[in-house]
Amino acid sequence: MTAETTDTAPQTVYLADYTPFGFIPEKVELRFILDPHATRVLSRIEFRPNPQASDRRFFLHGEGLKLIAASIDGAPVTPELTDHGLCCEVPEGPFVWAAEVEIDPAANTALEGLYMSNGMYCTQCEAEGFRKITYYPDRPDVMSVFTVHVEGPYPVLLSNGNPVDSAEGHATWHDPWPKPSYLFALVAGDLVARSASFTTMSGRHVALNVWVRPGDEGKCDFALEALQASMKWDEEVYGREYDLEVFNIVAVDDFNMGAMENKGLNIFNASAVLASPETSTDANYERIEAIIAHEYFHNWTGNRITCRDWFQLCLKEGLTVFRDQQFTGDMRSAPVARIENVIALRGRQFREDNGPLAHPPRPESFVEINNFYTATVYEKGAEIIGMLRRLVGENGYRKALDLYFARHDGDAATIEDWLKVFEDATGRELAQFKRWYTDAGTPRLKVTEEWDGDAGRLTLHLEQTTPPTPGQDQKPPRVIPVDVGLLNPNGDEVVPTTTLEMTEARQSFSFDGLASRPVASVLRDFSAPVILERQSDSAERAFLLAHDTDPFNRWEAGRTLARDVLLGLVLRDEAPSGDFIDALARVAGDDGLDPAFRALALRLPGQDEMAQALSDAGVTPDPTRIWEATEQLSDTIAQRMRPLWERLHTEMEVTGPYVPDAEGAGRRALRNTALMALSRCDGGAAARAQFAAAGNMTEQLGALSSLLATQTAKGEVDAFFEQWKHDRLVMDKWFGLQVMQARPEKAAEVAEALTAHPLFDLRNPNRFRSVFGALAGNAAGFHHPSGKGYGLMADWLIRLDKLNPQTTARMCSAFETWRRYDADRQQMMTDALRRINAQPGLSPDTTEMTARLLP
Ligand code: ARG
Ligand code: ZN
Repeated sequence: MTAETTDTAPQTVYLADYTPFGFIPEKVELRFILDPHATRVLSRIEFRPNPQASDRRFFLHGEGLKLIAASIDGAPVTPELTDHGLCCEVPEGPFVWAAEVEIDPAANTALEGLYMSNGMYCTQCEAEGFRKITYYPDRPDVMSVFTVHVEGPYPVLLSNGNPVDSAEGHATWHDPWPKPSYLFALVAGDLVARSASFTTMSGRHVALNVWVRPGDEGKCDFALEALQASMKWDEEVYGREYDLEVFNIVAVDDFNMGAMENKGLNIFNASAVLASPETSTDANYERIEAIIAHEYFHNWTGNRITCRDWFQLCLKEGLTVFRDQQFTGDMRSAPVARIENVIALRGRQFREDNGPLAHPPRPESFVEINNFYTATVYEKGAEIIGMLRRLVGENGYRKALDLYFARHDGDAATIEDWLKVFEDATGRELAQFKRWYTDAGTPRLKVTEEWDGDAGRLTLHLEQTTPPTPGQDQKPPRVIPVDVGLLNPNGDEVVPTTTLEMTEARQSFSFDGLASRPVASVLRDFSAPVILERQSDSAERAFLLAHDTDPFNRWEAGRTLARDVLLGLVLRDEAPSGDFIDALARVAGDDGLDPAFRALALRLPGQDEMAQALSDAGVTPDPTRIWEATEQLSDTIAQRMRPLWERLHTEMEVTGPYVPDAEGAGRRALRNTALMALSRCDGGAAARAQFAAAGNMTEQLGALSSLLATQTAKGEVDAFFEQWKHDRLVMDKWFGLQVMQARPEKAAEVAEALTAHPLFDLRNPNRFRSVFGALAGNAAGFHHPSGKGYGLMADWLIRLDKLNPQTTARMCSAFETWRRYDADRQQMMTDALRRINAQPGLSPDTTEMTARLLP
């Protein structure tokens, strides 16, 4: 009896079709007999009928499994097998299902289910990977208590929950908390741990371990500290305590995503956990801290309360991203974290929302759920929580969250449950607010001002519109919290931040009793994920850049100024005004400001952001022209402020041992920014010196970036390679940086040459992304008029799809902006997509993505 997965027409799943499963698994017992090519999985599951369900068909998911034997209540049965699972006749009352299957982890290159990475066994079951391990009702609303026996000749054998017993060659784990199968995990291999402990608020001791391959022990301390900080923070801020005796984290080299929150056994992409000053940048440290927190926070928002079905994914992801962002804001600088989050949101989510892949945070249908682990579900999902919190206030939010945990602990919940909790806890009606979950697209918020000097009244006229998105033509108005503050011409705040609640398509709000015309600071702290359209002159922007008391809007004023300057250059070849340079110099040189903030203020808008801005203004963007203008402006800024760059490069140096904290990171960021500008003036002399003297990866990589960007690198690329060729994560940087910093006409060539490098590895998602993620991110290179970037990307996505559909499908989003461009580029981009789409045997994942992307 075998059931091999074959290609069948992909099926669409609809939210509206939800029905509960007909049976409840009371207890699950699994036994794994590990072997690289022939692992046996024995399951014993006690089922009883689900009184809540009407459908009594006993269907278990299963894909690519070799069924060895199956029985019900001890009597052998012969189930009916399909490509997606099995069906079987079952008794009316409770019964025991048992099965034995064989799987081949070593052949699993999709990195879903049980697979091998560098000789180690590991799993990835979210979203639907458990069905590649054994037959099971693999859906998040089916929860059970798991006991797992692992057998194999490996020193370390791990699974979820608490260790029950272990001896050489076998271990038993028991997880007392009912969980869905997507939270199952197993790890085995030759691993070593760095350990610490945590005492919870009620005094329980928890053993913490970070498991790595021998040789990486020295890179675990930061993750352990971040874990302890996260555990403490969740107790203090959300009242959430950890609930097992042990918390294990495992670093895996081959992993499709960042990390996974399996109960008690988080599995991480090595890049999201391993850190050392010599090999990791400040940005790496910040990301690791955030991901450790994110996965840990899932223990309550995701695991204790999970999702009823995958349409509700943003219930756990949006909330958990919001929580990790709050955590980062508390651990580091809140304004800097907010600005970084908004840059990322605009770069990824606004772009997604504006193209063919636009979908609501809670979609209504999907073919492959892995294609919906998107910026919209995650980052926009988090913005929605932020808006809710703004609307109900800090106390209302805490009351609602307390009620959520009290009411839904142990549940598989929905967005409706989530909103009901807010309604019940705060008395606020949220029917209209719910549109943020059900409607796709980014609202445009137009703001005009009216000043009545006699009455001392400023009126803000607001107007919201949301352009149509695939499948949604009509966009009724949403609830938009618009935070506004008013400043006096001397820079004093006359009206502190006030939340205006917009609920209609057009609405006006007045401020009275003003002695003179104030300057309005609108959408402070980026209080809603909208595109603000506001006519304002550069003098007002310069004023806000100098004086706004809201740090986000202060940064935003500079960003908008820079964008206008770049637009002037692109469209009219207009040289940047002296005012702009002066305003920038004032912020950059203001030692009273946080260096991290200054570094952010000096960062010019990205080329993709500029392309979108042009497209929004009705102009077809030319990526080459945007690149030239950005280069020109960077050169001008570099040359006009050279003494300042020299001063900052000297003064921002951090001496003494490297500490990955926000303060040091801010100084190093500003120093590297200064170095980049300096390299445009000094032929790379300062960068070469910094490269030679670098005491940590932030300095070394900053220097190498500057040298590559200004084409002044000599032997440094090779020297870096020689120094770090043994370290996979550092090599990812080496691959990526060369593609990122390549000139537009060279980018595809550089990427192609790197694919022929002995260390290029199609099977390792990090390495693949280091080259092709960088190519997609090099806008002028990817969109070069030769079409080479598109062609190379398509060639390699086609190759990767045969091994790893999930990563292939995600990376198809490189093409999501095709509608913005001229006819030639549109043709080349859609041709590339069609070529991918037409491949025989293309995965359902990539088929769905290319079909959604094409007209
Ligand atoms: N739940 C994980 C996280 O956000 C992501 C796992 C996604 N995996 C996948 N195959 N889609 O932390
Ligand atoms: Zn998550």
